[in-house]
Amino acid sequence: MMIITLASSKGGVGKSTTTAALAGALTHAGHRVHIVDLDSNHTVSRWLGDGSRCPALSVSAGDPQDLTEHLSGLSNTVRPDIVLIDIAGAYERALTVAVARAHLTVIPAAPSEADIFEAARVARHIRSVFQAFGREPLYRALLTRVQPLASHAQLHAVNEIVRLRLPVLKTAIAQRAAYTEIGLSGLPPHYADASRPTVGKAVAELDALVAEIGALTGFELGVSQAMEVAS
Ligand SMILES: Nc1ncnc2c1ncn2[C@@H]1O[C@H](COP(=O)(O)OP(=O)(O)O)[C@@H](O)[C@H]1O
Ligand SMILES: [Mg+2]
Repeated sequence: MMIITLASSKGGVGKSTTTAALAGALTHAGHRVHIVDLDSNHTVSRWLGDGSRCPALSVSAGDPQDLTEHLSGLSNTVRPDIVLIDIAGAYERALTVAVARAHLTVIPAAPSEADIFEAARVARHIRSVFQAFGREPLYRALLTRVQPLASHAQLHAVNEIVRLRLPVLKTAIAQRAAYTEIGLSGLPPHYADASRPTVGKAVAELDALVAEIGALTGFELGVSQAMEVAS
């Protein structure tokens, strides 16, 4: 069971959107995906909760206090190939557990000074958690809500990431209608109307993200390899 944690203490950076979109991409590639929704607003549960649109995708709203128990419950019952944890910032203990259990922690950040400052703070938290366990953490910032036309502010944000030595995924998630619509339609881009350009672009971006995550973690995330992930 591969675990990916999406963490940021800041709201509005695209954690829930990216979680839902990535879950759709992974489900579409043939994996059984489960989202643990630790946000007390239960955003992802509302968007994808009834499971009717993607049968291989399930969601549970966990209590941040019981994340360890929740995860072992999942590995005995739902037995997903991949678990995505959408964690809202305030619960420090849950963040520690989610990061310690994850094969990869993704820190979404829009290209703004505030988001990148916050991402660097989360990265420091991750490093301190892993130092306590004597292990090397695997984490990456993920630029989200990137404007299709690169602005000065955006270039400055990228420079800031370099300056802070924040490791960042090469794939970025752009600001697109296909992502905004997840909350309204309950459809991640891979399950939306593929004839629309916004959907096609989001799908291409998400497939690149899946490939990059596969290469980073060593998990086979390609379509034909889905069975190998189950262990
Ligand atoms: N890549 C994106 N493109 C367009 N809209 C986005 C994107 N990511 C997030 N949003 C929008 O921004 C708002 C906040 O996103 P959300 O995923 O709920 O953030 P978080 O979970 O970090 O608080 C939502 O209204 C969502 O539709
Ligand atoms: Mg959220």
